[in-house]
Amino acid sequence: MNVPDIIIAVDGFSATGKSTFAKMVAKEFDFLYLDSGAMYRGVTLFAMENGLIAKDGTIDEAALKVVIDTLDLHFRNEEGKTLLYLGERCIETEIRTLAVSSYVSPVSAIAFVRAYVDAKLRAFSEGGRVIMDGRDIGTTVFPNAELKVFMVADEKVRAQRRYDEMVEKGDTPVFEDIVKNLAERDYIDSHRETSPLRQPEDAYVMDNTHMTLHEELVWCLGVIQGKFLLYEAPSLTW
Ligand code: CDP
Repeated sequence: MNVPDIIIAVDGFSATGKSTFAKMVAKEFDFLYLDSGAMYRGVTLFAMENGLIAKDGTIDEAALKVVIDTLDLHFRNEEGKTLLYLGERCIETEIRTLAVSSYVSPVSAIAFVRAYVDAKLRAFSEGGRVIMDGRDIGTTVFPNAELKVFMVADEKVRAQRRYDEMVEKGDTPVFEDIVKNLAERDYIDSHRETSPLRQPEDAYVMDNTHMTLHEELVWCLGVIQGKFLLYEAPSLTW
């Protein structure tokens, strides 16, 4: 497989399928996959569990600031899956609840939280050959990423995908709650002061509303082939 050692930045709105796409590309082309949203979710879970977020959503920023640099959030690779750990505890399931989703955007709008996550992500990526998804990867974390993808999809389709994903995990979500949560997060993420969600100027835009996963992979391969002048397309395994 002759895809070069590059950094691929995948950004976009909530539930546009960034992580599914990034995991698939990572597997196919043997890249390290890093989920930046998981890190923000991890900080949020920590804050919730330690009484730093009040019922009305007020965040005790002063207290969070004191402890943030002591948080041992890191990824571990287990059976081909990249899982988030807080110290020795795997928190992959806990960070995906709607409760965490409802507080994560305000937490990730805090500048010192972003600085903490950015530093970790850059350290985890040393050596390159990384695909990372998030909101500001191509604009802030890796502005020099060799390939930037910006993903968009129809709102209803996004909500339905997230709904199906949660049902599959055994949750019983209310569809309207998901629609509301996605809209709220998109608004906060794109209007915050520090590193707001923006489409990088040099990004390739993928609207996957009507695309299958295989079509997404073929699309990615086409972009890589054209951009890096690979005369012979790397063959796909499926
Ligand atoms: O999977 P989904 O698109 O729902 O969200 P996520 O990638 O898990 O990210 C959760 C939240 O973290 C986002 O709504 C943002 O508020 C925040 N985030 C961010 O601010 N910057 C990033 N690079 C990644 C996530």
